[in-house]
Amino acid sequence: MKRIIAPSLLAADFGNLERDIKMVNKSEADWFHLDIMDGVFVPNISYGMPVISAINKIAKKPLDVHLMIVDPDRFINVFKKVGADILTVHYEACTHLHRTIQAIKAEGMQAGVSLNPHTPVSVLENIIEDLDLVLIMSVNPGFGGQNFIENTYKKVKQLRSLIDKTKSKVIIEVDGGVNDVNISKLTEAGANAFVAGSFVFKSDNPAKTIYNLKNA
Ligand code: DX5
Ligand code: ZN
Repeated sequence: MKRIIAPSLLAADFGNLERDIKMVNKSEADWFHLDIMDGVFVPNISYGMPVISAINKIAKKPLDVHLMIVDPDRFINVFKKVGADILTVHYEACTHLHRTIQAIKAEGMQAGVSLNPHTPVSVLENIIEDLDLVLIMSVNPGFGGQNFIENTYKKVKQLRSLIDKTKSKVIIEVDGGVNDVNISKLTEAGANAFVAGSFVFKSDNPAKTIYNLKNA
């Protein structure tokens, strides 16, 4: 399977968002990664429903929505309405994670769970078979442009062996500080989807950078 590339619009030029979305449409990227932050779960606020709706009107690829918000159950149906295809919640933000995952699937979206850098993979043992995707944070969530945490390789390997044991088809996505060097090592460790914000949008030729990430 070819790796999945999901450029994070957090690093796009918000004054030229339509231009940047169209660039991703034309590129080899597979998904749009949308980072939703509430200023409570993470120390930053990004953007909300009207912006997601506007993105969805122009985007021609699935919207991979990463919720960094407390109590995400409140908004599951709303995220479906504004165009989310994949909805990922944080393990650390969900008391009744199993219920949350069922609610996401009931809305017809793919369900993902994200783990902060300090959260062990083993917490997913009893829910892994219910998931479509696990998002391993390779930085502390809240900001783009941070340095990749090296311990991520170990977590990806642990998750790969947990998934293979259950013979499920869960996608392993890595988010934070991904570049054209660590992406190969992460692929070897067993990851198959990659979020890249700064590395794509701060490069001279974002479409070519996406191509390089896809084929590195
Ligand atoms: C961080 C977000 C990431 C971020 C990645 O909280 O979840 O998706 O946009 O940005 P880079 O690739 O710049 O680390
Ligand atoms: Zn993200």
